[in-house]
Amino acid sequence: MTENIHPTKFKVRKEDRMEKLNQKPVLIWFTGLSGSGKSTLANGTESALHQLGFHTYLLDGDNVRSGLNKDLKFTYEDRVENLRRIAEVSKLMMDAGLIVVSAFISPFVKERETIRDMVGEENFVEIFVDCPLSVCESRDVKGLYKKARKGLIENFTGIDSPYEPPVSPFLRVKSAEEKLENSVEKIIELLKEKISI
Ligand code: PPS
Repeated sequence: MTENIHPTKFKVRKEDRMEKLNQKPVLIWFTGLSGSGKSTLANGTESALHQLGFHTYLLDGDNVRSGLNKDLKFTYEDRVENLRRIAEVSKLMMDAGLIVVSAFISPFVKERETIRDMVGEENFVEIFVDCPLSVCESRDVKGLYKKARKGLIENFTGIDSPYEPPVSPFLRVKSAEEKLENSVEKIIELLKEKISI
């Protein structure tokens, strides 16, 4: 409800912060199945950007769901709300001038499109962490696929909840075939032009 709400115009603008930080804020959005390698790639990307002197912040599924979004489950409605809040937080961070790196399953095309529209198409960098379900399931780092197969977790992505792959992502990383360092290097090379002033 935005009725009777009148946002204040601030003196310091996003452009002023960008100039101070000497960078263009973007939202680097990693999407993919649980266990596909999103967090590892997001971590590697943030770390590389940080070392290059960029100002960044990393938002990650399990972390955000332990705090801000701990009231949400994995129903369709809750995932949509999860992503809506994350997009709003990302927008605030971009407004602060930061380069935001996000790693969320974000299984629905429509919701990812909404996020892209919220932050502006030119500022949204979608990276599809493409890893076959069979590989994610065989890794099963957190033991969640095993639980989901036993029926102990409901609405598990790839098992009884859908994952819709991106149609034309900025980049597709085949995480089961590529080395992490090579993927990060490729991401950074492609990003440099987008984030430098
Ligand atoms: S979503 O779909 O974008 O709202 O999910 P996200 O916020 O990224 O949270 C994914 C992490 O939650 C854990 N988990 C589950 N994932 C998928 N389905 C179900 N039902 C589920 N229950 C718990 C899991 O650890 C996910 O982390 P990743 O890093 O993707 O493995």
